[in-house]
Amino acid sequence: MIFVTGGAGFIGSNFVLDWFEKYDEPIVNLDKLTYAGNLENLADVVGDARHHFVRGDINDTNLVSGLLFKYKPRAVVHFAAESHVDRSILGPADFIETNIVGTFRLLEALRAYWAELDDHSKADFRFLHVSTDEVYGSLSKDEPAFGETNQYAPNSPYSASKAASDHLVRAYFHTYALPVLTSNCSNNYGPYHFPEKLIPLVIHNALSNKALPIYGDGQQIRDWLYVRDHCSAIQRILEAGRPGETYNVGGWNEKANLDVVKALCSILDELSPRVDGQSYRSQIAFVSDRPGHDRRYAIDATKLKNELGWEPVETFDTGIRKTVNWYLNNQKWVANVTSGAYLKWIGKQYGNDEIA
Ligand code: NAD
Ligand code: DAU
Repeated sequence: MIFVTGGAGFIGSNFVLDWFEKYDEPIVNLDKLTYAGNLENLADVVGDARHHFVRGDINDTNLVSGLLFKYKPRAVVHFAAESHVDRSILGPADFIETNIVGTFRLLEALRAYWAELDDHSKADFRFLHVSTDEVYGSLSKDEPAFGETNQYAPNSPYSASKAASDHLVRAYFHTYALPVLTSNCSNNYGPYHFPEKLIPLVIHNALSNKALPIYGDGQQIRDWLYVRDHCSAIQRILEAGRPGETYNVGGWNEKANLDVVKALCSILDELSPRVDGQSYRSQIAFVSDRPGHDRRYAIDATKLKNELGWEPVETFDTGIRKTVNWYLNNQKWVANVTSGAYLKWIGKQYGNDEIA
């Protein structure tokens, strides 16, 4: 069986659902269920005997060790993290606690578990650390995309905390020979994406007749990957990646934020037109920029393609249409996650810009 952390969040839940569509191997899924974790994401596997969900914190070493020795996983895939850059700017402490200290405690529990395995299981064991392209910092317009050997230059508390966790993972390979793999992926989008992030926020605000907030000039570039393509990359790296290596994951889909928002408006105009006949573009509003906003990310995923034969299935056009359709068909999920604590966050983040 495999052990997943953060499997009730956006990418983790997509990974769990995708895994059970392909394999029968069970998963132990440890998630703290922070504001970003949601058991509704896993509704399709309720009652599935292959899925063992445990609510808990990766910082709880007794719990994590107990689960490792009980379930004896052959691999751990580590998604659990605080993941939103804007939240890290308003309050970095949780990012340090989960992304750095939590990863450290998880590595310590794993080191103790791994040391007790027989030689065969030891050699076969894998720890896959799911990380981000943001650790490489920001690119100018003409620089080549990030390769695995790019220097780390994180710019936000979020990316600094992920960079620190990447370094710890690397050190556990070099110092203790723990068989680790690290993936550094670009921006994901797709079903179950929490509507604090650009794409689901824009879809939600458009349909709620609210402003579509564009930070700064909207010319910042992100490299978008459909979430299920990220899941297939992780599966492939787990299967055939070389211990100690890092793999960059991306979809060769660089887009300026304003273009992403305009594309969303066009699809919504077609699939769910406004009653007054106007385009959703009329709701676009330029707001204050994110402090320290990285200008451009781009991933060179050649290593993953050449060594492991991975390529994404979705283009931006196919993936974004699927995503908009999913949100249109899952308005109850959106309504459930955008009540209560969500409203507080929106007020705190966008209050001065009066986007509501
Ligand atoms: P998310 O915020 O949607 O989900 C994170 C999950 O981790 C939640 O279910 C949350 O409850 C859980 N969690 C948080 N703290 C925990 C703790 N202390 N113990 C146990 N569980 C805890 O994040 P996501 O977008 O799904 O990202 C998953 C991973 O992928 C993160 O490590 C992130 O850095 C990385 N990543 C994300 C993207 C992206 O575009 N979203 C891109 C590249 C890499
Ligand atoms: O690159 C990978 C990273 O992508 C992951 O590691 C992070 O976990 C994930 O959250 C994401 O980070 P970004 O900051 O790039 O994603 P976000 O959706 O928050 O923002 C995308 C871009 O859109 C970014 O340039 C900021 C901008 N933006 C965002 C919001 C929420 C806006 O213009 N307006 C907004 O309201």
